[in-house]
Amino acid sequence: MTMKNRPHPRPSHPRRNAAIVGTGAYLPERVLTNAELEKMVDTTNDWIITRTGISERRIAAADEFTSDMGAAAARMAIAKAGISPTDIDLVILATSTPDTIFPSAACRIQHMIGATRAAAFDLQAACSGFLYGMIIAEQFIASHAHETVLVIGSEKLSSIVNWEDRNTCVLFGDGAGAAIMQAAPEGKRGLLATDMGSDGAQTDILHMPAGGCRMPITPEVLAQKKNSIHMSGKEVYRYAVGAMNASAERSLQLSGLSAADLQWVIPHQANLRIISSVTERLGVGMDRVILNLERYGNTSAACIPIALHESSESGKIKAGDNLLLVAFGGGLTWASAVLEW
Ligand code: COA
Repeated sequence: MTMKNRPHPRPSHPRRNAAIVGTGAYLPERVLTNAELEKMVDTTNDWIITRTGISERRIAAADEFTSDMGAAAARMAIAKAGISPTDIDLVILATSTPDTIFPSAACRIQHMIGATRAAAFDLQAACSGFLYGMIIAEQFIASHAHETVLVIGSEKLSSIVNWEDRNTCVLFGDGAGAAIMQAAPEGKRGLLATDMGSDGAQTDILHMPAGGCRMPITPEVLAQKKNSIHMSGKEVYRYAVGAMNASAERSLQLSGLSAADLQWVIPHQANLRIISSVTERLGVGMDRVILNLERYGNTSAACIPIALHESSESGKIKAGDNLLLVAFGGGLTWASAVLEW
């Protein structure tokens, strides 16, 4: 493979803007409704809707993995961008649920889609992963090191949810979204500003304790379901609002735009109340916010690319629109971007 890799030019060209030139998404068929969850744990449809805004979520089949969903979304993004898989220089897969800890699920996807020239790696920034990936891709493109980067967010969160824990099992779902990034075409400005950050002092408020070297899987660990998502909901909520707001403000300021210049905000789809607090602080009405959490719940790194794909396909987002993307996740991590579509 290495021999086929294109040598990285290191020209003294000025930096160039990167843009998304094609998107794709994949959602598994199986719908899990709040009514079904009422039969699994002590919860109600009313509680879930009023506290989170989620009505249903998708669940991947037993033999359907993060790489399968990511590859399906990627194939669609490749077709929309009108490129060939062999044009891709780099595959970045943002996920917290890789098929295996190693090798990366990104390598599986690279093979599945025939991106034979590409380097590939998994990126772990939890729910902020897609935006982290987009920002990394931007650096390769802006510096002329790469022409075409595929960024994917794909998650099989159902595989790490404790289906007996009502605090978490109502929140998450499975799915994938993907974007092809290249230099901004003539007349398009693409990415205008980005921001990313993390706070490792907060690792324990949203995490999966077991499955890594810190707590290898043993029968005791399995019995205690430590290989599943553990979360202090209230603390995560509080941090999410503050961090998303601060990051969004930073990206906006760097872009030279104000909230009034934004046609759309695409936030991470964790909780409708988090989203409305953030957008209210920014001064953006909910009529300018793209939402899909009612149908898909929190698909972590896949939320934003799925929302981007669906809203551009439906014609909601139009060429020339100014978008703010903003996310928050375990780590803790956060990221945002302002771009012209
Ligand atoms: N159904 C019914 N009751 C539930 C429930 C459920 N699914 N989940 C929790 N409860 C209960 C709690 O046990 C608690 O009961 P108690 O008062 O007897 O202890 C009560 O509801 C209220 O819990 P509270 O934590 O105050 O609710 P909340 O308003 O904070 O909402 C979350 C809970 C999880 C929805 C909210 O905190 C949240 O969204 N946090 C952020 C989570 C997140 O986004 N994570 C991913 C980030 S990327």
